[in-house]
Formats: sequence, structure tokens, C-alpha cells
Amino acid sequence: MADTATPNVIRRADYAPPAFLIDTVALEFDLIPERTVVRNTMRVRRNPDASHASNFELMGEQLEFVSATIDGAPFAQAHAHEHGLTLDNVPDSFELTLTSICNPAENTTLSGLYVSGGNFFTQCEAEGFRRITYFLDRPDVMATFTVTLRASKADYPVLLSNGNLLEEGDLPDGRHFARWEDPFRKPSYLFALVAGKLVALEERVKSGSGKEKLLQVWVEPHDLDKTRHAMDSLINSIRWDESRFGLELDLDRFMIVAVSDFNMGAMENKGLNIFNTKYVLANPETATDTDFANIEAVVGHEYFHNWTGNRVTCRDWFQLSLKEGLTVFRDQEFSADMAGGATDEAARATKRIEDVRVLRQMQFAEDAGPMAHPVRPESYVEINNFYTMTVYEKGSEVVRMYQTLFGRDGFRKGMDLYFKRHDGQAVTCDDFRHALADANGRDLAQFERWYSQAGTPRVSVRTQYDAAQQRYSVTLTQGYGDTAPAARETQKGPLLIPFAIGLIGKDGHDLALQLEGETRASEATTRVLEFTQTEQTFTFVNVAQEPLPSLLRNFSAPVIVEYDYSADQLAFLLAHDSDPFNRWEAGQRLATRELLTLAGRAATGVPLQLDDSVVAAFARVLTDETLSPAFRELALMLPSEAYLAEQMAESNPAAVHAARQFVRKRLANALRKDWLAVYEKHRTPGAYEATPEASGHRALKNLALSYLAELDDPAEAVRLASAQYDAANNMTDRSAALSALLNASAANGGSVEAQQALDDFYRRFEKEPLVIDKWFALQATQRGSAQRPVIEIVRKLMAHPAFNLKNPNRARSLIFSFCAANPAQFHAEDGSGYAFWAEQVIALDAINPQVAARLARSLELWRRFTPTLRDGMRAALEKVASQVKSRDVREIVEKALA
Ligand code: TRP
Ligand code: ZN
Repeated sequence: MADTATPNVIRRADYAPPAFLIDTVALEFDLIPERTVVRNTMRVRRNPDASHASNFELMGEQLEFVSATIDGAPFAQAHAHEHGLTLDNVPDSFELTLTSICNPAENTTLSGLYVSGGNFFTQCEAEGFRRITYFLDRPDVMATFTVTLRASKADYPVLLSNGNLLEEGDLPDGRHFARWEDPFRKPSYLFALVAGKLVALEERVKSGSGKEKLLQVWVEPHDLDKTRHAMDSLINSIRWDESRFGLELDLDRFMIVAVSDFNMGAMENKGLNIFNTKYVLANPETATDTDFANIEAVVGHEYFHNWTGNRVTCRDWFQLSLKEGLTVFRDQEFSADMAGGATDEAARATKRIEDVRVLRQMQFAEDAGPMAHPVRPESYVEINNFYTMTVYEKGSEVVRMYQTLFGRDGFRKGMDLYFKRHDGQAVTCDDFRHALADANGRDLAQFERWYSQAGTPRVSVRTQYDAAQQRYSVTLTQGYGDTAPAARETQKGPLLIPFAIGLIGKDGHDLALQLEGETRASEATTRVLEFTQTEQTFTFVNVAQEPLPSLLRNFSAPVIVEYDYSADQLAFLLAHDSDPFNRWEAGQRLATRELLTLAGRAATGVPLQLDDSVVAAFARVLTDETLSPAFRELALMLPSEAYLAEQMAESNPAAVHAARQFVRKRLANALRKDWLAVYEKHRTPGAYEATPEASGHRALKNLALSYLAELDDPAEAVRLASAQYDAANNMTDRSAALSALLNASAANGGSVEAQQALDDFYRRFEKEPLVIDKWFALQATQRGSAQRPVIEIVRKLMAHPAFNLKNPNRARSLIFSFCAANPAQFHAEDGSGYAFWAEQVIALDAINPQVAARLARSLELWRRFTPTLRDGMRAALEKVASQVKSRDVREIVEKALA
């Protein structure tokens, strides 16, 4: 309904093949910051599979049209307009040369060709290529590209584009040139160029078939000492894709370039990946363990796109999850294999837990609001708004379900068939599903609903034990509950849900599993039930004792499981489940339930108390030396405030904060000795190592420090944190210490120690933008108090000389951190957070609509909050709606208010 009211809605159902095809593209660039001339020569022909059109419509934005020639002769019937160029009455097959001018220096959108730090970069996905030259800028038009770059040799000594370097040389007037050729056909969104003063770390490696490959990581000269980890991650990615999927690097050269002004994480341009510096640069002094892990994941992600995205690409942008969901799945598996190999289930589980936590906190929330959409959306106004948690993270879960259903080998067979059928093509999510189905001899028609239905499915579970018959039945019911209107419209019927289950006996061991009708029990004590109906009962036989069910092991489907566990049962699962994911899950359920009860009390002013049994359950994990430190850290971390607020009938961030703080303090005070012991035991003296083991120790130690900072008397924590801050030889420990100092003093309105550490941190890292981002973020996310509201600190920091709204990383570090990661302070009753949000969305809208639209999304769940907050948010949304210009922000706020 809302869609018909909004103009310019693009619909999946309206897909039509392009009227023309472009086979080859030769681009020539004369790179000058304010006035770059682009000459674009294309071989064009009519598409035999499309209906006839006499005019040739090319897309173009923010371009100054200069000239058009067809087959070498000037072509007069070319009309430039706001959205592109129309050529009237063109022949069936022709060579077209278009010349146009753009202004990279003034391009603050960071889409198309732009200047950052004096160098040139491009970003073309999804629709940035049309800001560089007129083109059929859609992914089902694939061409081979030759690119000639010309620029001042002194200012731009390095000239890069996709593929292989054909030739380079000097030109008159201090200029030089380079010519690149990409032998693979590709859509325009994978085009890239880079020009400037850069240096590279280089490696030569041999690929599986013995061919030598040149690998480069290009950065600004002062960052060369932070490239080793990205290079190692790239080499590991290349090896992994060969061994796990039989996929080899297909170019002689593979380049990664880091840029500090970038809208997202990174971009998979063919042979020339362009990265946000945040996902390339790392050394122990400047990057945390999390940064190291993220770099490995993002380098892997972009590299894996070379096959899943580039060799096989998307027919249209509705199919975005075809490449993104699949590639996220691949990078998650890569990281899990790097951490735990194929068999260390506990180590793999930490990665799984982290991924599921993100999914539940971010994607479930998205699915519950006005932006809810299926993994394959039906419509959009601005495609940039659909690079979402649903397309990426839920999309990855959908891909993972194939592997859960068919096993690793069956999944591999499906992938092999997918490439055999579709290499070099632009295809759909259906093509992928058919390949998986055919390779495994299965009909996956019902599975299609995972692509077309929005909302988070709920599975409720009833169990019954018949002692006389030794039968245990598990009845599963699926539905969506009370979902957002945007999701409800899409819901048609039951899903095929792979539901992994185990049964646990009184001694804590798994029971043998034999389903009714089977002749004997299986060896595996986890079974994947194929749950396909609205309600379905699975009966296990020869069950000698009443078991405790372990449900949805390893989170086998992106659903919410409803089962009425008692607190004792959860504590038992937390202590005994053989599935490490579900051990963690049991602790989270226990904590979530307690925290929501407490938040309800806090909201109505009832005094808070916490049952000793909950403290005891946490104490057991804290002191259980058989569990890995990384796992203990995850299990002892309480669910986030954002996640908890989302679970309330009426979100109340202040009440959630009070409840969570109460529990943290209670756990801190009750287990003080244990926290101190853990803190001492898990120190990592000596040289920094980025291994999973070492980072697990640091994570647990720093969690202990953060709990100690909650003690009624934090003096000891302050002493430990100050000492840790001063002695740290790595950013993980230094930033954790700084955070502990900030939080230990929050209730008293700050402390000398905290301020000194903050000042020291700034001076120490003044020349490291990524670390200064952390400095802003730590302050924006710190705990506040009545006498010291964080909004005041944030507003002061907006005027800091190092703040810069045009740099997305910096804007995110201060503004997004406050608006999206400090809910208790952002949702202040006086509306001060919302007023700030509106100002910043409006300011960013004029600079960078993509970034503005991301910020705009932080109010989308406004209807679910308490009445006062709801009113404040609506007013702020209306203010923004009345002032912003970009299609990007309009779509978000209009959907929120609809
Ligand atoms: N395709 C990129 C990835 O996920 C992400 C991406 C899409 C992007 N659009 C972008 C990155 C715009 C930067 C800017 O790997
Ligand atoms: Zn991607």
C-alpha cells in the first residue's frame, strides 16, 4: 500500500532484459580533480532477447555531456538529461564514443569517482558507474573493459585499474599513462580505478595449478607497517577457496587498496578490491583483536566475491543476496575454519555465537520494523538502502541451511553445479536454489519461501514423555506471531526449517536418537528434523528416561524458539549441553529472562533483586577451567541493552539500563574474588600474538576488568586499569583499560584517572585516524549520569578540531556510536538525543546521502517505545522528513512514518 503512494518505486516484477547489450568498453581518463574528462568507446548491439526499442537510453548522473560519435561520425541526436543520455534511432550494431566531464574533487557522496587524501578512487556498486560515464549501468549488462589512465606523474605516480597491466609510460608535460585490461566480462558495478601516491606490500604466491600470482596491498606510505595482517589474510583466503571449494584465483595479479573516506566496509571490484582503511590497517599498537578478526573476515569476503559475485553475478539488484548472503556465509566459514579447523567444534562455536548475536540484535530488529523485507526484496526506492542485515546476514543463514540439510559434501556438489551452469552469467536466487536442489536430487520448491517471506519465524515447541512406552514426542508449530505490517504482507505459508535437536539425559550426556519407524538409533546424537508443516510431531522411541531437549542446535535456522524451560533446566543446559552453541544459548536465555523481569520492575519503580541461583550459574561458567576463555567471555557477557529493549512489550531503554547495570553490579560484587583471579590468570605477558587463544585470554581478562569496574568500591579496578593502560603493548588492552576507567568513574561524574588516560590516548595516537575514531567512539558510548549526560560530551566533541562530518568513519565514531550504541543516553526523556539526531541526519543528507540514510535508520523502531519517547521520535522524524532532499533518506523516514 505504502509503495503505490511513493513515486519511483522499482519492482522486481517489472524486470525486463536490456534492449541493448554492450560487449566491449574502452575508457580513457584524463584525471584532474575538478575536471576529469572521460572518453568511453563501446561496442553496442541490440539484445536478441529483448523487445525492439529505436532509442538507446543510457544512465548518467552529475555528468557534463561533451560529445557523441557513432562509428566515428558525430551523432547529433543525443540528448543529455537529468538521468542520462538518449540517442535517437540508433543502428542495430555500432561503435559509440561518448565524452563527458565529472568533478571528483567536489564529490562528497563517495559514489562514482572521488578524491580522498589527494588521491583518486572509485566506488561503483550499486549505481555509481553512471556518475563516471553514460552507460547501461545494470548488472545484467556485462562487457570486457580496457582502461587508459592519464595523470600528472608527480601527483599520481601510481595508476591502477582492473585486471592486467598492458603498458605504461611517460607523456609530455610531466604526465604519464597506464593501460589496463580485464579479460573477464563484468558488469559496470565492478569497475574500479585508483590513482595517487601509494605504496604496496607485495607477495608472490603460487596458486593450486602452479601459476604465479602477484599480490599487492596498496596504502599511503606511512601505513605500510600496518599491511602484514591483510596480506596474510589474503593468502589464507586464496588457499581456503582452493581447498574448500576448488576455486582458484583467475587473474595474474590481485590488488587491495585502502582508502580512509569510504561509505561501507570494502568493495570487490575485479582484481582491484578497494577497502575502508579500517578493514586493512592493523598492527598490535593500533588495532584490537576484534579489528584483526574483522580484517581477516572482510579480506576473505571481498576475495570470495571473485567467484560468488564476479564470475557469477546478479541479474538485477533484487538478487543482491545471491552474492552477498552466499559470500557472507563463505567468509563466516573461512573465519571458523581459520579459528578451529573443520573439527574443533568449540573454537568454531565462538565464531558462530558472534555471528548469531549480530543477527539477532540487528536483523531481527530490522525484520520487526518498517524496513522489513524478504532476503530477495520485491521493491525498493533506493537500492543503497537494501544493503541490509536481511540481505547479508539472514541471506547467509539461508545459504547455511542448504549446508545443514545436505552436509558439507552435498553443499559442495551444489556449488560445483552452480558454477558449471552459470560461470560468466548474471543470474537469480532461483538459479542458485535449483543448482543446490538438482545436485542433491531434491525438490526445494518450499524452500523458496525463505527468499520471499519477511519477518522472523517463531517455532514453539511442546514435548511429551510417555514413560511406559519409552516414547518422547516433540511437537513443533511455526508461524510469525505478531509481525510488522511490512512483513505480514509477504507471509504465505510454512517454511522448510532444518531443526537440529538433541536429547540430554539426567547425567548430562546426550541420549541415542531413534525416530519412530527407524530400525535403530543413529550414531550422531544431533538430528536435523525437516520441519515443513505448520504443525508437526516427531516421536523418538526407546527413550529410557525423560530427557531435556536441546533445541535448534548450532542455531540451525534463523528463527525464534519458544519453549518453556525452567531456570534450573537452563542452568543444567548451560553446564552440560554437548552443543557449545546451545550452552551459550542457555545462559543467554537465563540472563534475558531475568533482565526482562528486572527491567519491568525498574520501569514501575519496584526494587530490584536477583536470585542466587542465577549468580551461581554464572559463577560456574566463570570458574570452569574446562571451557575455553573465549567461550567463557561470550557466555558471561550479558545480552546488549538494544536487544533487551527490543524484547520488551514497550521498549524502555532507561529501565533496561538500570536492570542490566544492577545485574552487572550484583555479579561484580558477588563474584569479586573470582573476577580478580580470572583477571590475573588470563594476562598475556610478552609479545603480542593475534592468535585465537591469545585473544580469548585478553577477552576474558578484559571482561573481568569491566565487571570489576562495577564494584561498589572501584578503587582496585581503577588501579588495575591504570596499570594496564600504562603497560599495554597492544590496543586491545589499552582501549579496554580506558573503557574501564571511563565506566568506573561514570557514576561520580568522571575522574582524574579517566581524564588523564583520555588525554594521553589522544596525544599518543594523534596521527592514527583509526585510533582517533576509537577515542571518539569510547566517549560517545560511555555510561552517563544525571550530572554528566553524554549528549553534552558528544556536542563538545563535534567541535573538536579532529572531528569531520565528511569522513564516514569519523561521523560513525561519534554520531552513530552515540545514536545507535548508547541507548540509555540517546533515548533521554528530554528528547535531546533525538534533536541531535535530526540535526545530523539533515547535515549529512547534503553531504553524503548513503551515510545519512544509515543514520536515519536509528529511529525506525520508534512505534515500539514508551509513549513519551515515541512522541519525541515522531517529532524528530517529521522534522527530518520535511527537510531532507535525497531519495535515500526520504525512503527511510517515509517508511518509518507511514
Ligand atoms: N559489495 C560490497 C560488499 O559487501 C559492499 C558495497 C555495496 C559497498 N555498496 C557499496 C561498499 C558502496 C562501499 C560502498 O562486499
Ligand atoms: Zn559483499
